[in-house]
Amino acid sequence: MELIPAAVEAFSEKYTSKESDVLYKLNRETHLKVELPHMLSGHVQGQFLSMVSHMVRPRRILELGTYTGYSAICLAAGLTPDGLLHTIDINEELETRCLEYFREAGYADKIKMHIGKAADIVAQLDEEYDLVFIDADKAGYVNYYDLVWEKLRPGGFMLADNVLYHGQVLLPESEQGGQAKAMIRFCEKVLADDRAEQMLLTIRDGLLLIRKK
Ligand SMILES: C[S@@+](CC[C@H](N)C(=O)[O-])C[C@H]1O[C@@H](n2cnc3c(N)ncnc32)[C@H](O)[C@@H]1O
Repeated sequence: MELIPAAVEAFSEKYTSKESDVLYKLNRETHLKVELPHMLSGHVQGQFLSMVSHMVRPRRILELGTYTGYSAICLAAGLTPDGLLHTIDINEELETRCLEYFREAGYADKIKMHIGKAADIVAQLDEEYDLVFIDADKAGYVNYYDLVWEKLRPGGFMLADNVLYHGQVLLPESEQGGQAKAMIRFCEKVLADDRAEQMLLTIRDGLLLIRKK
């Protein structure tokens, strides 16, 4: 399902600040050499993540689901001088490329990549986060929300990607796949949580922006 008409997407790209040379190169290399390149946040969403980071000025960021590191580089842009971004991915084959690009982007000391299951690593990290980006396996979102909640500072923000799941969330339940159902369960959980304030942004595949009251 086309969520955003191609012409609107092109107009939005045209009037969004250009990708940096590093992000352009990473975007292109991911599409040429890495499986499932549609997973990469991309130009417009990446610029949105960068803007949010500049607005929040986070000291600690947590990202679940690094992939090739595109969103991590965007999110790192607004870190405070003593800031650090922890990013987690289960796929160890991605690590070398990510570390090269983090260095090339000037964030070798600002982004710490962890390889392993997100739930295990989150439990091991003793940090209080200002900003969290959930973008790993969709079935895990409900659990990640609970795990991360206690580590998110009051007034802190969470962003969760793919909540529209290619538009499948709009189909009758009998036609939805497991991932779309997981996204609806996640959105319902956040909606029912009085401790949170949220809005669903129809950027790319849908971002749920959550504020811890
Ligand atoms: C959608 S991609 C992340 C895209 C990236 N955030 C970006 O915007 O460029 C999802 C990533 O989650 C990782 N992943 C899947 N299950 C995971 C798990 N249980 N723990 C940690 N990472 C996981 C995958 O290996 C994949 O690289």
